[in-house]
Amino acid sequence: SAIPHPPHSRTGTGGETHQTADDADIPTLTTQQGTPVADDQNTLRQGADGPALMEDFHFREKIFHFDHERIPERVVHARGYGAHGYFELTDSLADVCHADIFGNVGEKTPAFVRFSTVAGAKGSSDVVRDVRGFAVKLYTKQGNWDIVGNNIPVFFIQDAIKFPDFVHAAKEEPDRAFPQAQTAHDNFWDFVSLSPEATHMVCWAMSDRAIPRSFRFMEGFGVHTFRLIDAQGRSTYVKFHWKPRQGLQSVVWNEALKINGADPDFHRRDLWNAINAGDYPEWDLGVQLFDDEFADRFPFDILDATKLIPEELVPIRRVGRLVLNRVVDNFFAETEQVAFCTQNIVPGIDFTNDPLLQGRNFSYLDTQTKRLGGPNFTHIPINAPKCPFHNFQQDGHMAMHNPKGRANYEPNSWPQPQGGPRENPRTGYRSFPQEQSGAKTRERSAAFGDHYSQARQFYISQTPVEQTHMKDAFVFELSKVETPAIRVRMLSHLRNVDEALARGVADGLGIPTLPDAAVGPLPVRTDLPP
Ligand code: HEM
Repeated sequence: SAIPHPPHSRTGTGGETHQTADDADIPTLTTQQGTPVADDQNTLRQGADGPALMEDFHFREKIFHFDHERIPERVVHARGYGAHGYFELTDSLADVCHADIFGNVGEKTPAFVRFSTVAGAKGSSDVVRDVRGFAVKLYTKQGNWDIVGNNIPVFFIQDAIKFPDFVHAAKEEPDRAFPQAQTAHDNFWDFVSLSPEATHMVCWAMSDRAIPRSFRFMEGFGVHTFRLIDAQGRSTYVKFHWKPRQGLQSVVWNEALKINGADPDFHRRDLWNAINAGDYPEWDLGVQLFDDEFADRFPFDILDATKLIPEELVPIRRVGRLVLNRVVDNFFAETEQVAFCTQNIVPGIDFTNDPLLQGRNFSYLDTQTKRLGGPNFTHIPINAPKCPFHNFQQDGHMAMHNPKGRANYEPNSWPQPQGGPRENPRTGYRSFPQEQSGAKTRERSAAFGDHYSQARQFYISQTPVEQTHMKDAFVFELSKVETPAIRVRMLSHLRNVDEALARGVADGLGIPTLPDAAVGPLPVRTDLPP
């Protein structure tokens, strides 16, 4: 039977059938300049069978724009999925922090969250074994505050200078361009087995945490130690935690393989469907608070991002909830163009000297200037603050707003309103005046040296079933490593984590004799927690 044609259809010169806008309900298609378009199906030609004409401005504009649709994907965390929501303060933190967001119980702060995998390209699969990004942008009344975290509380390296090497090793190998999104290859295991500091994080990456069932069932961690600053200017150290009210769930490896085959978009579809069904995912924001005295007693350096602060030692104080209740209108405009940055902080929050954090503070702004085409990406709505903002920054590619009037500098002697904004010593951001001393050096403090104790603690905190999953993951991933010496080197680290784990992995790999345990810079502690 005949295919029904929509009303107001017409047949173009090419014989196709389509709707036109000759109707009050249908907007007229225009060029980017707003010129109404009469024919979007056929190029302008010299004669019905003749060559296309350069004069066809509509054709040229349409193709030109299409040719420029792609921007570089993120150098890491390329594959992600975002949603809008809000943060609601449920318990005041005003005793330790003067940030507005932590002062008024019941206040809701708009939020945008992007979850991601780390290693895979933008078009890779969701349910791979990988760390997940958990990046939160909080549009506070004092400016945007980003907590750019992961679903694992520690990291692979201690110093940002190693990040390019780590990421090169983790992503596809440069000659063959595979594997796309897996840790199962020589370069990854070569690097981590030569970096004892990675052992703790590798154990987390081989645990069930690295194959979450969905974004909704993951924890989030700010990872680094930050500072909260109170109204008197006093500092308290803080670790940030997001605790899912849905609980924590993972899949097992053979499920992950099947899901990836059947639906590579499993995690993004899950979030989209849950939010559209009104089943809004929620997380509690928890903080671990501690002072210099605790930091000095703690056997590890609190500035070392390969270490966590056990919750038994410093219990988590829950202060608010994050609710995701709205999907994006447009993936590219929001999820792809959002730019999280660890240096986006507000009065009441401050950095520490964690050498990973300090390097991140440089890296994000730098990469986003390239990825988003220049210095004005804060003019993109998803990145713009929702509070008033005024400054004298001007011009550059894609400037959407510039200072108004004559004054574009300060101090100036123009009367208001022409004079424009001024600094405010009372409400403006002030850095915590930490005392510093010491010689300029690349040497790390010795407190960064114990690479195995917390890895061991993590392993023994797992249930027997989870320990088996970890062992199986090590065997599976290392069995893809072609170079025997790399497998053996990794076993030398696992002996410092747990002898049975090392033995089990060696058996799985068919290696009869265990190598000597790797010699760490510091002996392994067995007396944790202190
Ligand atoms: C992207 C987390 C370490 C450089 C991201 C994203 C997250 C994240 C969640 C994705 C943000 C989004 O969804 O758009 C972390 C965590 C780290 C860490 C938790 C360690 C604790 C580092 C280090 C560097 C770095 C050490 C560099 C020195 C980058 C870059 C991007 C990125 C360049 C891409 C940003 C963009 O294009 O917008 N990171 N990261 N990260 N990270 Fe990290």
